Amino acid sequence: MTRMTVNGEAIHYRLDPATPLLWALRDASNLTGTKYGCDSRDCGACTVIIDGTAVTSCSVAIGALEGAVVTTIEGLSPDGSHPVQQAWLAEQVTMCGYCEPGFIMAIAAMLDATANPSNEQVAALPNICRCGAYPRIRKAVARAARAAAASSKPEQTDPKRLSGGSSEMEQKPL
Ligand code: FES
Ligand code: FES
Repeated sequence: MTRMTVNGEAIHYRLDPATPLLWALRDASNLTGTKYGCDSRDCGACTVIIDGTAVTSCSVAIGALEGAVVTTIEGLSPDGSHPVQQAWLAEQVTMCGYCEPGFIMAIAAMLDATANPSNEQVAALPNICRCGAYPRIRKAVARAARAAAASSKPEQTDPKRLSGGSSEMEQKPL
């Protein structure tokens, strides 16, 4: 038996410890948002986040994940409100959609580690989009990074409120 937390829920998998996480998620947990593409770490369609890191779930056996915290596309946000999901919609990235869950999870983990990833960093992801939506994916990453930065900025304080005077005066050079 392997115990882990999947999308915030404690799960005990009574499966062969050699079972790839991908199939435990899809077949035992019915979390079919995580896709099967290549089974060889070459496509990224199966990407989930394990303990904060993006991992191709076809390449890790559940026996190695005792106590792990796993997030799949179903658990990324309760209502599709994660900045990467919102950016995906805003930039109309979707074509066939097969690569999307893996890309979104990989980019979400990337933005947690790197506030403003470069195009080269995005290109270095192992994820493949067979529909070739890469220009829109890059735009979505940039949009999500801006949204994440804006939401983490401290509120600006109005100088008038601090001094009771004119903010114009405050901004003049000495
Ligand atoms: S199915 Fe896991 S990387 Fe392709
Ligand atoms: S949208 Fe079709 S594979 Fe990426």
